[in-house]
Amino acid sequence: MSATFNFKGKSVFIVGGTSGINLGIARGFARWGAKVAVASRKQEKVDAAVAELKELGAEAYGVTFDVRDSEAVVEGFKQVSGFFGGSIDVLVSGAAGNFPAQVNDMSTNAIRSVVEIDLLGTFHVMKASYEYLTKPGASVINISAPQAFLPMSHQAHVCSAKAGVDMATRTLAMEWGGEGIRVNSIVPGPIAETEGMSRLAPTPELAKQVTKTVPLGRQGTVDDIANAAGMLASDAASYISGAILPVDGGWSQSGATYAMAILADTLNNMKK
Ligand code: HXC
Ligand code: NAP
Repeated sequence: MSATFNFKGKSVFIVGGTSGINLGIARGFARWGAKVAVASRKQEKVDAAVAELKELGAEAYGVTFDVRDSEAVVEGFKQVSGFFGGSIDVLVSGAAGNFPAQVNDMSTNAIRSVVEIDLLGTFHVMKASYEYLTKPGASVINISAPQAFLPMSHQAHVCSAKAGVDMATRTLAMEWGGEGIRVNSIVPGPIAETEGMSRLAPTPELAKQVTKTVPLGRQGTVDDIANAAGMLASDAASYISGAILPVDGGWSQSGATYAMAILADTLNNMKK
């Protein structure tokens, strides 16, 4: 269920905001009255997301870029700031890639693709955003994952990249805090009906195992993450910066490790 916030007159840019969790965040801000922009690689996904956000009543805009291409990211921010006609009040950076594979089974390019999207992409987005962020007052939210602080088999690329994302969050909270910019990470738990879960728990049996390992007894919804983003972007969080916030029903206390060990066993048995 969606919480209630008021973001009327605010401009919100969600990078990677065209599907799954991040589109859920975009929908949340659209419902709460913000002007919303989204970006990702595929034009058709951008167009569909913008159309959906407009249907929710938001002024919405989309740009297409790959976060691995720093120049394209800079150009995208220029276009988005033109659409906003001013600065960016809320920035969500959530573009990511993931597939389960052991280090021995990944080429340099396989590792590079995830590290470049998740970590280098975050740096590109943070750097390109800086000149447009509302100073003081902007809220920057990076979308992390439990892999950032829990080692998981078949996830070394994501674990390494998302750990870097959280350290970038904490460092930028220090570097930008003096100008009144808050920087935080949200760590989603297992979120139902998302690409991430279809990759990491691809069978109904694995999905059930994941649900059993969540202390609150259910997988999360995209609205759960949107609500946390709304809270972090709101005045209620005006003294919160540098925080790494799990929104995961308690999963990262221990269940995540257990569920991912089951996935690793399943994948290893498939290899035999
Ligand atoms: C080993 C693999 C592989 C696999 C791809 N590769 N899948 N290697 N095992 N299962 C290798 C390829 O062979 C290639 O290496 C390299 O990775 C790059 O693959 P491309 O397909 O050329 O890359 P690209 O088109 O850039 O796509 C990037 C991607 C893709 C990450 C591989 O899956 C993607 O676009 N993902 C975006 C959507 C996504 O992943 N969403 C889920 C996010 S969930 P070679 O050597 O052959 O060139 C998440 C956390 C979830 O992030 C946490 C849940 C708890
Ligand atoms: P998703 O639907 O695949 O979302 C990824 C988004 O990023 C899409 O809009 C995608 O669109 C875009 N994207 C991917 N690569 C990109 C690139 N190189 N440049 C620009 N945009 C790119 O996945 P999701 O499962 O909802 O995950 C969303 C976020 O939540 C990710 O940061 C993920 O790590 C995190 N997370 C997810 C879960 C979960 O349960 N699903 C758990 C923990 C953390 P295009 O394909 O058009 O580029």
